[in-house]
Parts: sequence; C-alpha cells; structure tokens
Amino acid sequence: MGAAPVDPTTTEAWRRLAELASGFEPDLRRMLADPEWVARSTVQAGDLRVDLSKNLVTPEIWKALQALAAEIELAAQRDAMFRGEHINVTEDRAVLHTALRRAAGSDLEVGGADVVEQVQAVLRRVYAFADDVRSGAWRGFTGQPIRTVVNIGIGGSDLGPVMAYEALKPYVQAGLECRFISNIDPTDAAQELAGLDPATTLFIVSSKTFGTLETLTNARLCRAWLLEGLGAGDEAVSRHFVAVSTALDKVAAFGIDPANAFGFWDWVGGRYSVDSAIGTSLAVAIGPERFEDFLGGFRAIDNHFVSAPIEQNVPVLMGLLNVWYTNFLGAQSHAVLPYSQLLHRFPAYLQQLTMESNGKSVRWDGSPVTTDTGEVFWGEPGTNGQHAFYQLIHQGTRLIPADFIGFASPAYPLTDGETDVHELLLANFLAQTKALAFGKTADEVRAEGTPEGIVPARVFSGNRPTTSIMAPSLTPSVLGQLIALYEHITFTQGAVWGIDSFDQWGVELGKQLALQIAPGLAGDAAVLAEQDASTRAMIDYYREQRTR
Ligand code: F6P
Repeated sequence: MGAAPVDPTTTEAWRRLAELASGFEPDLRRMLADPEWVARSTVQAGDLRVDLSKNLVTPEIWKALQALAAEIELAAQRDAMFRGEHINVTEDRAVLHTALRRAAGSDLEVGGADVVEQVQAVLRRVYAFADDVRSGAWRGFTGQPIRTVVNIGIGGSDLGPVMAYEALKPYVQAGLECRFISNIDPTDAAQELAGLDPATTLFIVSSKTFGTLETLTNARLCRAWLLEGLGAGDEAVSRHFVAVSTALDKVAAFGIDPANAFGFWDWVGGRYSVDSAIGTSLAVAIGPERFEDFLGGFRAIDNHFVSAPIEQNVPVLMGLLNVWYTNFLGAQSHAVLPYSQLLHRFPAYLQQLTMESNGKSVRWDGSPVTTDTGEVFWGEPGTNGQHAFYQLIHQGTRLIPADFIGFASPAYPLTDGETDVHELLLANFLAQTKALAFGKTADEVRAEGTPEGIVPARVFSGNRPTTSIMAPSLTPSVLGQLIALYEHITFTQGAVWGIDSFDQWGVELGKQLALQIAPGLAGDAAVLAEQDASTRAMIDYYREQRTR
C-alpha cells in the first residue's frame, strides 16, 4: 500500500461513472428481455448462484466499475490483506480473518509466526472441548452432563454465534441447546436463564478484549446465578465457565481456569470472528465435523475472491455495485432479505459487519473521505418483510437496492396437504424481484379496470434493483460462503473509499461516557454537577421515577 489511499474521485473511471450516471434512465424491462444479458449477469461463487441481471447497470457501467477497481488497486489491497500486512492502520494490525479458515498445513507466516498452525492448535482444543460436551464426558460440578451452553458476549462476540446457531439449528445435536446473553439490560440474562438448571448449564464468556462492560457484568451475574443455584463456592466455576478471548491474562484474573480458555489473535476483528474460537458455542452445537464444513465454506469464497477474474468475481462485483448505488445513484441504504426463516438474524449480523466496518468519515491516512461511505444495511426475512416495509421499497421515493437470498431445498419440507409450502416461499421471492424490476405502468393498471382516480396510487415505477442469490440448501458450508461473501463485499467497498474498514473508534466515546455517567445515576453529586442540562434533567427524572 502507498503512503496515502488513492482518491477514487480523481480516477478516470470515476469521471466516466459520473458521466454514465448523469441522465441515466435504466430500463430493466428491456434488459431482462435479453437472455444474453441475463446469462452474462449470472455468476457463481462456490455454491452461490448470483443473478445480477436485475440491477441498474449496463455493460458500459460494468466496464467503468471494473476500471475503478483497477485504478484504486483493489487486487493489491486484497493481496496485502491476505498476506497479513498491517492494513488496519489506525490499530497497526494485520487483518487475517482469512487465516482462520486456511487449510491445515498451508503456509502463512506473519511476524515470524506460523499463523495456520496457531489457528489449528486452537481449533484442536475447541473441537476436543466440543466433543466432550456433546458426548457427556464433560460433567458439571454435580456430575451431570451439560444440556445448555450459554454464550455471553456482545457485538462480534454474540452476533456471529447467535446468527449461525439460529441458521444451523437443524444441525444441532438433540438434547443440546445454546442460548445467548448480550445486552446489559438485566432482562436479557433474566429471560435467557429462565428455566435453566445450573447443574447442566455451561457458560462461554466470549470477549476479544475481555474488557467489555456488558460481557463482564453479565459473566459476573451468571456466576452469581450459578453458585447460588448450586449452593456451591468458587470451586464450581471451572466446571461451568470457559472463556474465549485474546486477553488470556484477563480471563485468568476473572477466575476462569486458563485450561478452559480458548485464544485468538488481535488480527481477527470482532465482527470477523465467528469462524475463530468465538464460534465455540456453534462448534459444540453442530459438532467439529460440521464446523469444519462451515470453515470450508468461507475458504471456498476466499479462493474465489482471490482467483476469479474480475468480471466473474462475485464479492468484487457486488461491492462495486454498492459503490455505484451509493456514490452515483444516491442510495443511502441496502436491504438484505433472506427467504429463509433460519437466517432471521443474518441482517442484524450484517449490520455490524458492514456498518462498523464502513461507517467512516476519514480515510486510513487520516484525511477526510472524498465521497459518501457505508450505507445503512437492514432487513428481515421474507415473506414477513413483504407485509411490513416492502411498500416503501416498491413505491417510496428512495432507491433501496436489495439482496434476495433463497435456497432450492427447504430445511423442513412440509406441506399443508396440497401445497409444497417451500415453493410458495420461493414464488414470493421471485414475484418480489420481478415486481420490483418490471413495475406496473398506468396503462396496465387501467387495463385492469381500475377507476382513473386511483390509477396513480397503483402504478409501480419498476426499475428497482435487486440481486438474487440462491444456493442448493442452507448447510454449514453455504452459511460460511454467505458470510465470506459479505465480508469481501465490505472489503471491496472500503478499499474503493480508501478507509480502514477494520477499526471501530466510533463506538468508544459512548462507552467512556457511560462509565462516567453511571455514578450520577446513583446520585453522585459531583458527577451530576458535570452534566449538560438535558442529561441532568433525564437523570433527575429517572431518580424520581425509579421504584425498584
Ligand atoms: O462495540 C465495539 C466492539 O469492540 C465490537 O467491535 C466488538 O465486536 C464488541 O465491541 C465486543 O468486543 P469484545 O469481544 O472485546 O467484548
């Protein structure tokens, strides 16, 4: 990498894209009448079939976007990441989540360390632990096997594990269950612990830094719950608490036996960590063999990202499309709509991945960004979202590119006696992408006999862009592929914008202020006196109103 990022807005490709955007009148009806266009716009990465044909692009726009990738040296930036260069400049760290899923025995030395062997050594311990819990060899303090694994963590130490656990529930061993506590709102712990038997419950405290207020507070709360429930002292902790962290000294200081701690490294960002030991709860739930398949899925997309030619490189194309929509067509958000109930936490997971990564106003050299950066990612599973917010996507005034994700085979092939219900789900997937692309003209509305006065309300402009992603079924490997796809889309966008997609300074200020304000809530006069009028008034109101 050079001393400063390339300013994308100074490139020839940017100038060309601006030219193409001005007065651009997309016509998806015409484009989609051409089977050649659809064939050329359909790409494959691993098991993911990706149809890009319903996007607002033309061959010229694709050419200019690909030229932009060349001008900002995307390939060199990507290679620097995979090599372990310190591309996380503001934290002076390598960015090597891709090393977490390298094949055992492959070669990657960083700073004199054999990174792949380090990863494998931790995986072996995680797998041995998972096998012990699954087989019942791991016993709780009273000698009973574990039935419930509770992951305590927040952000990347929660969203990945909970999303993947939910997505892969059909693969979870019968008789085992995972729960997840993240929020410092004590309601979360109260509700997740409800009905659990301390004798058969095991906690995994997951925290990269082992300094996160929410996680340490919840860990203490759960320890108190456990010891009270068992009527035991600290000697019970080692049979019911394990930890995952990069800060193994802090794990020991917390009272967790270092033999029960699984490490990872500062070169794994929290939001990129589900495939590290942070995924231990998942490894227990689905077993080491399937966890290996999960890692294999990531690896398949890493290989694709590194080796596929740009015109077929799915994460690069999807990342470039996002740049096109954000910087040239004015999109401010991006919907992710899984037609799979199992992926109901996937949009929330992607929110951290994309928005913590690319929500930046300065570039990696400290200079201001030269264009808009990260868009708002959001979504809900189809078809639920259709009955909630799709109205705005179809007929609102904003451009909202949307990714539709579906699977050929259902996890549960149920029928209502007549209908294959999964086919109805997929019919909705296809209907929505078609309606968004084609819309409905005023003449078409009139031809249905609609009274003239309400014709405008029933017109759909169409030309609303979607990407359709379909895979054979939602296996551990396919989930790994989907996650890696979005990791590399996020990387591509950050690389174009010249930002450090791997720091997250924006979350620090609020954390510091919360610690400063906390004594004020308890009535500390000095802290209260320091507060601004609004904060002070809210604290006063709280102190008056709190009854228990
Ligand atoms: O909120 C910021 C953040 O640092 C995330 O990036 C991270 O995933 C989360 O907090 C949890 O951090 P930790 O794993 O260190 O507890």
